[in-house]
Amino acid sequence: MKRTIEEALTEARDRILRDDFVRAILTGRRKGKSPEFQRIDLRPVEIKGEVLIQSVAHDGKKDFTKNLDPSSSHVREILDSGFANIIIDSTTESYQVQITKKEEAIAGLSKVRLERVLVHDREKERVLPENHPIFRTLGFSDSSGRIKATSRDKYIQIDQLLRIVEPTLTTIASGSRLRIVDLASGSAALTLAVHTFLSEKFEVETIGVERNPDLVKKATKVAKDSDQSGIRFIESDIATAPREGIDIVLALHACDTATDDAIDFVIASKAKIALIVPCCQQSRGEGVEEVARGFPLFGRDGIVDERLLDLATDALRGERLRNAGFSVDIVEFVGDEHTARNLLIRGVRR
Ligand SMILES: C[S@@+](CC[C@H](N)C(=O)[O-])C[C@H]1O[C@@H](n2cnc3c(N)ncnc32)[C@H](O)[C@@H]1O
Repeated sequence: MKRTIEEALTEARDRILRDDFVRAILTGRRKGKSPEFQRIDLRPVEIKGEVLIQSVAHDGKKDFTKNLDPSSSHVREILDSGFANIIIDSTTESYQVQITKKEEAIAGLSKVRLERVLVHDREKERVLPENHPIFRTLGFSDSSGRIKATSRDKYIQIDQLLRIVEPTLTTIASGSRLRIVDLASGSAALTLAVHTFLSEKFEVETIGVERNPDLVKKATKVAKDSDQSGIRFIESDIATAPREGIDIVLALHACDTATDDAIDFVIASKAKIALIVPCCQQSRGEGVEEVARGFPLFGRDGIVDERLLDLATDALRGERLRNAGFSVDIVEFVGDEHTARNLLIRGVRR
């Protein structure tokens, strides 16, 4: 939609000052203007109970951060400083303005689903930031380094898993060699994120095991494009995948009975650590009904029975690992708004 520049920038400022504002990105150069910076990112931050607008200006070499009083004229001055492309995201809408060479403003609006986060130091908030290059390679983020709405749940699941991986490794000396296997690795998102994150501290070799040859091909390309070394994918069923010299086993949403195959793999290998997030509970193995029937009201309500059977399945999976010499805890690793399959079975070999 064509607007005057004044109208488009006034709306941009109003959106930044609203209390559903999430972030703004200013890039490109308007004809005849020379903004001092290549890019400016704005976002709300809460400091000592007051919401300010944090500006991070990038000149091609360094970032310059300032916290601006929203009631001052600074926000409008930034918008007027000569950028050609402006994106302003709220929790529900993305407002985009492009100022053309003819000095016309083309404005557009699309739907998004974002959370407004007011913590001061955003880098601490996510283990791998949204604009990390691997998320672009995986197709999770757009060209501005923002995670797309369609990938946000997966991004948060991965972030939460990375948070759990780190404290589990405190007994392993930094710089040690680690061999990680990600069972049922799918399109490689978790595999690549864990590999990238742990490579900062350890000498890591990572193998993704996946039985779907198309996904193996795709994941191999993603690994190559990511420029990370020491990561590869093999086409194999979990039951027949090589088990030698493994330190950490991951299995995120390995479907059908693959979660049980992953537990067999953990027990048979010499893995020290297992992080397993079960998926659909097709496995209703021996003893599951018996455990669920221990609940006196079992058998009365279909949905309650289903959930009891699911929980009994996961409790028995944890027990199998315990009996095989692991210390086990079962935790909710991410809120159920991000995935209904949100229990993590964590096992550390005793
Ligand atoms: C829901 S996806 C999860 C992928 C990935 N772990 C993630 O969380 O993004 C399940 C994957 O498990 C793979 N899979 C299922 N059973 C398997 C088995 N027995 N051996 C290897 N891969 C298996 C499927 O091909 C599919 O790619």
